[in-house]
This record gives sequence, C-alpha cells and structure tokens, in this order.
Amino acid sequence: MKDLYIVWSKDNEIGIPIIDEQHRVAVGTINSLFYFMQMKRGVAALRPTLNVLEQYTKIHFETEEELMKLHGFRDLDAHLLLHRDLQSQAHEILHEGIVNNDATIVLNFLKEWWLDHINKQDRKFAEHLRHTGVL
Ligand SMILES: [Fe+2]
Repeated sequence: MKDLYIVWSKDNEIGIPIIDEQHRVAVGTINSLFYFMQMKRGVAALRPTLNVLEQYTKIHFETEEELMKLHGFRDLDAHLLLHRDLQSQAHEILHEGIVNNDATIVLNFLKEWWLDHINKQDRKFAEHLRHTGVL
C-alpha cells in the first residue's frame, strides 16, 4: 500500500472543532481519490468520490459561512468569494483533467487549494474568534 496523498497533521488544525473535523473529512476524500487513481481506475470510476467531495464541500462551506456570519467576521465577503472561486475553478480543472485523461491535475489543485485555504484563510477566522473571546 502506497502513502497517503495528504497526511493530516495537527498543524492543520485551526482550533474550531467542527471545522477541523470537516477539513479532515475533505482531506480524507481527496486521499480516496488518490487511492482510486493509484488503482488505475478511470475518471468514470472516480466520479462517485468527486460527487461526495463536491457535496461535502457545500456542507462545509455552509457551516463555515454560517459561523462567520454569526460571529461577525469582518472578512466574510472576501472569504465567500474564495469559496465560490473554488467551486468554479474545480469544475474547470476537472474538465481539464478529463480532457487530458490526467487525474494528477485535479489532485494537485485540490491539495494545494485546501491546504493553503485551511492554513491561511480559515486560520484568520479562528484568530477572530480568539480575539473576540469565543475560542
Ligand atoms: Fe473557508
């Protein structure tokens, strides 16, 4: 059995339990995509996992955005744009991956986006909660 594509580490936790939990699930789903790719499955076989990732991302963004609104996060609008950007970019990159029959394009994009987003953008919200005494 080969390695995981993304190894989750405690360093990726931002300190909001439900958000950390959801981030792990998203990363786990990306790891499942990688696993199926290693098993040389075609794009059609990856489809159900991609669907789960897409649906789960919606649930996750909804959770995050709801908490951001509830706690008056001042960067909410910019953060909403980042979430919407991922959703449109992911569709384009998925298309590119299918056209080129290359799942690594999709995996690289997902890994980079999620780790960067979690560790830079979502962390700002955790900092906001700490400043306001919620965390
Ligand atoms: Fe986010």
